[in-house]
Amino acid sequence: MMDKLTASVGTALDRFIAQKQEQFPYATGELSQLLRDIALASKIINREINRAGLAGIEGGAGAENVQGEAQQKLDMIADIRFTRALSKGGETCGIISEEVDGIIDTGNHHAKYIVTIDPLDGSSNIDVNVLVGTIFSIYRRRSPIGRPPTKEDMLQQGTEQVAAGYVLYGSSTMLVYSTGYGVNGFTYEPSLGEYFLSHPNMQCKEDGEIYSINEGGYNTFDEGLKEYITACKDREYSSRYIGSLVGDFHRNLLKGGIYIYPSTSKYKTGKLRLLYECNALAFLAEQSGAMATDGYQRILDIKPTEFHQRTPFYVGSPKMVEEAMSFLQGKK
Ligand code: AHG
Ligand code: MN
Ligand code: MN
Ligand code: MN
Repeated sequence: MMDKLTASVGTALDRFIAQKQEQFPYATGELSQLLRDIALASKIINREINRAGLAGIEGGAGAENVQGEAQQKLDMIADIRFTRALSKGGETCGIISEEVDGIIDTGNHHAKYIVTIDPLDGSSNIDVNVLVGTIFSIYRRRSPIGRPPTKEDMLQQGTEQVAAGYVLYGSSTMLVYSTGYGVNGFTYEPSLGEYFLSHPNMQCKEDGEIYSINEGGYNTFDEGLKEYITACKDREYSSRYIGSLVGDFHRNLLKGGIYIYPSTSKYKTGKLRLLYECNALAFLAEQSGAMATDGYQRILDIKPTEFHQRTPFYVGSPKMVEEAMSFLQGKK
């Protein structure tokens, strides 16, 4: 098969972003620059991850983040790298990060955009060399230009997203994002230090035979969810669970499937965070023909009230999400 770098799909990320400018008639390039800032930080993180075992940056950092998780050294490194790239890039006025309690004020008070970010997703997998990721959302600020970012800027409903995406540090490193005109995947070519279009116009299959859920919590699941899982087993579906949300999401996007992080006894409102995990992936899901709910309502319709609020998360092939919801709601 022809190498994609030589085929038309091998468009470099920079050129692709420039080509898509016409989708934003009033844009003056700030969003494009913001996407480049994120791509730059991801290249730096990619290099750190690829040599974590040699650089002594595996393992815990000896601190907890705002949500009581034991922070990994790479969680902190990724947070610093993305915060620095977004601050220096000048297009972001404020950031909400999984690893930081309040609003990160970048000092760019004339910038139009804010970013919510999970700098390193799946960090429990770092030390065992399993795929990890980064998840991000971009919104227009609501407060007047020229002032510090406000809580209202950061607590926006998912439907207000201007762009969202993820980076996958896996067998190959990929950047997958959408600006509201479909989902495109770019694969990193380390020898050139550039991302190239490898997965144009990604579309999720309407149905699938893969279900991703941590069944360790099975005994505490809602009865309806237990019945849905039994139905998956009766049909001999494949159970695949990486422990990195981005990896499970990406596989299901390509092959069809459903990822569920439900309400459990340990996480009554689910473990995943609305602002920098679920909203971004829900945006990408809907841009690629997939579906994302909390088991009852569309993720993108949830009105956030707290920076680190959690939500149950049902995302993937629409037929599977709809069926899981009907079991959960006792309609099956
Ligand atoms: P993070 O590493 O950013 O805190 O996210 C971890 C999330 C998600 O990536 C993954 O699917 C899920 O936590 C795994 O949780 P369990 O270990 O409870 O299954
Ligand atoms: Mn974490
Ligand atoms: Mn995460
Ligand atoms: Mn994280």
